[in-house]
Amino acid sequence: MRRWALLPLMLVAAPASAQTGQALGQTLAQRSPAKTYASICAYCHGHNVGPIILGRKLPVEYIQAMVRAGRNGMPAMRPTEISPAELDALATWISKAPKDIKEHGQ
Ligand code: HEC
Repeated sequence: MRRWALLPLMLVAAPASAQTGQALGQTLAQRSPAKTYASICAYCHGHNVGPIILGRKLPVEYIQAMVRAGRNGMPAMRPTEISPAELDALATWISKAPKDIKEHGQ
């Protein structure tokens, strides 16, 4: 009798905890370099605002410095926008990435 009484509670509690876990995972998860590039950098780079940066083998340290310091039309980005781990991965990825023929601009 007791077990049956608990069943509805378990059914309600299970999806709720799954959702909490998912939301937490999203905040803690590090975005992939390709995703960070596509959602932040490609707004300008490869789209006629910033210079093409893929396929140029730019040094990792140079890319990291640009992102944190900015220059002219290039906005500086804080660790709250791109975490240090994300920037490490992103700069390495950009440095090694081949040219993307879908991109255009200088
Ligand atoms: C709002 C537009 C904009 C966004 C978003 C942006 N950039 Fe830029 N970026 C620029 C512009 C404009 C320049 C050229 C600045 C200059 O030459 O003085 C630039 C320059 C650079 C350079 C130097 C390129 C060179 O030829 O020397 C690097 C590296 C760079 N950006 C990386 C990034 C990365 C990585 C991101 C994403 C995290 C990013 N930028 C996001 C506009 C942007």
